[in-house]
Amino acid sequence: MTAITALRSATLFAGFSAAFLLPAAIAQERAELASPDGRITAEIWSEDGRPHYSVSFDGEEVVAPSRLGFRLLEGPNLETGLELVETGAASHDDEWELPWGERRVARDHHNEVSARFEDAESPELGFTVRMRAFDTGIGFRYEVSNPERGEHAITAEITEFVLPPESDAWWIEAGEYNRYEYLYRSTPLSDALVAHTPFTARLPEGGPHVSIHEAALVDYSSMWLDQRRGGVFRARLAPSHDGVPVRVGGEFATPWRTIQIADSAVGLINSDIILNLNEPNVLGDVSWVEPGKYIGIWWGMHVNTMTWESGEIHGATTENAREYIDFAAENGFDGVLIEGWNLGWDGNWFVNNEVFDFTTAYPDFDLEGVAAYARERGVRLVGHHETSGGVSNYEDQMEDAFDLYERLGVRQVKTGYVDDAGGMTRRDEDGHIRYEWHDGQFAVNHHQRVLQAAAERRISINAHEPVKDTGLRRTYPNAITREGARGQEYNAWGVPPNPPEHVAILPYTRMLSGPFDYTPGIFDMTSYADRMEGARVSHTLAKELALYVVIYSPVQMVADLPENYERFDDAFDFIRAVPADWEESIALDGEIGEHVVFARQERGSDDWYLGALTDEDPRDLSVALDFLEEGRTYTATIWRDAGDAHWDTNPYAYEIEERQVTSADTLDLPLAPGGGAAVRFAAE
Ligand code: NOJ
Ligand code: CA
Repeated sequence: MTAITALRSATLFAGFSAAFLLPAAIAQERAELASPDGRITAEIWSEDGRPHYSVSFDGEEVVAPSRLGFRLLEGPNLETGLELVETGAASHDDEWELPWGERRVARDHHNEVSARFEDAESPELGFTVRMRAFDTGIGFRYEVSNPERGEHAITAEITEFVLPPESDAWWIEAGEYNRYEYLYRSTPLSDALVAHTPFTARLPEGGPHVSIHEAALVDYSSMWLDQRRGGVFRARLAPSHDGVPVRVGGEFATPWRTIQIADSAVGLINSDIILNLNEPNVLGDVSWVEPGKYIGIWWGMHVNTMTWESGEIHGATTENAREYIDFAAENGFDGVLIEGWNLGWDGNWFVNNEVFDFTTAYPDFDLEGVAAYARERGVRLVGHHETSGGVSNYEDQMEDAFDLYERLGVRQVKTGYVDDAGGMTRRDEDGHIRYEWHDGQFAVNHHQRVLQAAAERRISINAHEPVKDTGLRRTYPNAITREGARGQEYNAWGVPPNPPEHVAILPYTRMLSGPFDYTPGIFDMTSYADRMEGARVSHTLAKELALYVVIYSPVQMVADLPENYERFDDAFDFIRAVPADWEESIALDGEIGEHVVFARQERGSDDWYLGALTDEDPRDLSVALDFLEEGRTYTATIWRDAGDAHWDTNPYAYEIEERQVTSADTLDLPLAPGGGAAVRFAAE
């Protein structure tokens, strides 16, 4: 292969920026790749005409030989009869800045190979596998260039991930009605059913931790993992209304399929691989994307003291809104979310698709007046668009709805797609209803249209019942946060509520994909249980504080009713202080489903914050403070469980301690059953 062909294949797709390219020999047997530190290695080859790859860590196989390819609705498949005809190699090392995030600067350091597979008789049939090795994992994607073909109707992706069946796994089911809102299962890997990604595994005998996911999910359907036989996981593409999950043109690239590998559980968290595999910001100046904290006329609806719909206890009234705006202003919060202000909530909105009107307020809500009052008090309204999965109804009104919010000074809109998976509706050209999946290609493209329309009005999107995060926030920094997991709301409904271990699993699973609007900070754990049987928060109060550091989101909700914060004003101090945007973040210690400790440095400040939490077991943690700047003294304020605290019997028992520390110190943190700790280190 000439250097020119290598260059052409390497730069075929926009955004690729190789530091240098190395020509490789013609018709290699195998393409080989190693991470910059040499610990992760991978090979790509063809066996009996079937493309394969494998991945090792420290010389031990992590992903055994696994197949690659596609099945198509028409014409020859891209699966067999394919030989490796050309390889290329490249390396890359640079740093880039996140406009907001877990850290300000990320390093993209990787080696790359490309492997071109072709059918000997029809060379236009084939694909290139581009694979990158970082020190924290592998990413690969398919690139297809066959303009003659016009459209590729992909019925199946043959991509496999063959893992040791004796591994342990943490996963949630895919293809079930509740989208991503399930409790994680912790099972032998061989028991995993069809699962969403990120899918997390711990290999046998102290082997490495592995997470399988995808990056840059654009104009394609989400990848589920389907275990076909012990340890053999195959990509299954989220379906569409006509049975063909993906339709793309003659030239396309798939999302990156990612395999993170780390010695320790926290090693999975300390990685930027997903963001590095996304394209840089295309929105230009995004200084209008504003991280911060928000409160809302929200929890009241979940614990049944208010309603979304009109009536006696309608939550979104002018009066309530003014009170919430005052509360936000007095406590230094940036936004007030108001749900249920627009017409459509009466009747069974959950089931009746297409009922919402996104620009008309209920008569007891003076939208213009409330927005003006918020502006006066230096607080922004946070907009809300619940679609109940009626996507065409939303898209018909979307431009007007965003225009309205822009005019009112709204910078963030929470969207919602409450509907069973596979029940999202759109009207086709003939006006017939078609049913789509929340994570299929149609939904992926819909979310993209929303981000675009919102960006034109300098609005950021917090999507609930979304498609999973694949790092697109790098390309569209107005994709500020999302749900896509079982959040706090489940503690209001008691079906059952989230157990203490839930948030000790999330950092190693769901959080590997990106920010989560979990909505932390409930201070009244149980008193609503008389209205909602079995409902409660299964955490100590100190653990609710820890969530602000542990569960990353650049917009964090202060979720409880204002009156519940008055009871614990000195604990509320932590929520007032904790930022939502970070200079640096480090997962220090933890095990999946047991505990986790994070340290994060506030962006634009020398202050650090620490959050630690445990499952239902008590723990005595010792945390080395060596992340602090050497030689500097910090005033540490520690909010922690009291000696007799317990998530079930004594959740409100906390202590606050203040002391001077340096980076040479170790902090002992006793965590109660279901407990946690939150620390602020103020630099002197
Ligand atoms: C589900 C969302 O997750 C929740 O936050 C919201 O209040 C309701 N839908 C209503 O939109
Ligand atoms: Ca939800």
